[in-house]
Amino acid sequence: MIAQLEMRGLQRVLWSYRSLSSSPCRCSSTSPSVVDPLAVNERTSKIPESIQIGGHTYRTDSWTNVTPRISSFVGKNIYLRKNHPLWLIKERIIAYFNWRYPGRYSPAFTVVDNLSPVVTTEQNFDSILVPADHVSRSKSDSYYVNKSHLLRAHTSAHQSDLLRSGFREFLVVGDVYRRDEINATHYPVFHQMEGVRLRYAHELRDDPDFKAIKSPAEVRSPGCQESHTEEAAAVMEKDLKGCLEGLVKSLFGQKVELRWNESFFPFTHPSWEMEVKYNNEWLELLGCGIMEQKILNNAGIHDQIGWACGIGLERIAMRLYEIPDIRLFWSEDSGFLSQFEVDNIRKLIKYKAVSQFPQCTNDVSFWIPEHFEKNDFYELVRDCGGELVEQVKIIDEFTHPKSGRKSLCYRIIYRHMEKTLTKDKANSIHKNIEKIAVDKLGVQIR
Ligand code: PHE
Repeated sequence: MIAQLEMRGLQRVLWSYRSLSSSPCRCSSTSPSVVDPLAVNERTSKIPESIQIGGHTYRTDSWTNVTPRISSFVGKNIYLRKNHPLWLIKERIIAYFNWRYPGRYSPAFTVVDNLSPVVTTEQNFDSILVPADHVSRSKSDSYYVNKSHLLRAHTSAHQSDLLRSGFREFLVVGDVYRRDEINATHYPVFHQMEGVRLRYAHELRDDPDFKAIKSPAEVRSPGCQESHTEEAAAVMEKDLKGCLEGLVKSLFGQKVELRWNESFFPFTHPSWEMEVKYNNEWLELLGCGIMEQKILNNAGIHDQIGWACGIGLERIAMRLYEIPDIRLFWSEDSGFLSQFEVDNIRKLIKYKAVSQFPQCTNDVSFWIPEHFEKNDFYELVRDCGGELVEQVKIIDEFTHPKSGRKSLCYRIIYRHMEKTLTKDKANSIHKNIEKIAVDKLGVQIR
């Protein structure tokens, strides 16, 4: 039962993390440097025997599904670029943690921002107790370099290594990669900040709310792991929630409306997610919880208890700066970047779209073969259309009453962020997508 819930839980947060209530896409004249998607056609080329990512060579195998376009994001490190909106959010979070946990001589939290996003399946899954049959391990959800390596799907992939290296309080910032749908708030690459804090029993005892040391609970309950005392878990929960509530108040103002929901992750128990009210809707900003003691024990730590949290940076930046489209974070255009050139990281910035270009909408309907993966089609569209694809959605599904064959109708919305995209250009990309879908995915156009 718990495993089941946990499975659904991770999936839900992994996905819902980025399903920011879709704000209308007002496109601006800013854009990532747009390559001609017709000139590069990655889908038609066969997977080479080895691939280079971030200066390293990896052998490919039947698990390889990372495309040249996706691996080209590795090393861009936009979150390290001074005055990039994601850099601003990162700096504000670090400043908040340093203020809240000053440490005796230097800030308590160590910031780790230079870890390669190519990790092992052991790091991304096993080290944090993700079960062997967990959905997030599937090829259709993650970008695999090969059977043993993938582009990290979350910054939690580094928890265990850092604990083993002796860190007790740390923040990990980095780019994370997930195969997903396409719209104004979903992008295959986004950024997370992981926070971890360990405490010894004597540190917890200093808390005025800490009543007495009792024996461990021994059985797991909804609020406490078997090896923790309820008192220790309660003090940790108070510290964790207090820290994160203070963080969103420091970002969005003291009056921000927030709420806590119970959540499930294989690596924390109990677990929560925090939502804030945005445009009258609840928006999920982060997941967190008391770390599974086994993760600490496996790292050789037996006398401390820990909490962990994972914060989505784009979500905060989009809400705080009113950035309408997640693709804008990759913009090289000075019209976009210059709006974030501020001396004070706390300065209130409201992003202004410089201008607006029209969309081109094309639909495609096809019969799908038996083992059709929706994410494979998204990937193909992404590869063929590059930055010109703003959104892909299913607008109709149909099962033939006699043959039982299934057909899908997708709507693909194209838009150039710097100029008007001609109908001809959109049509030729669309035709190309159709052709490659037939060749590579075995669909049959209706
Ligand atoms: N890794 C989780 C995610 O990406 C977030 C998380 C981090 C949850 C740490 C709990 C503790 O969805």
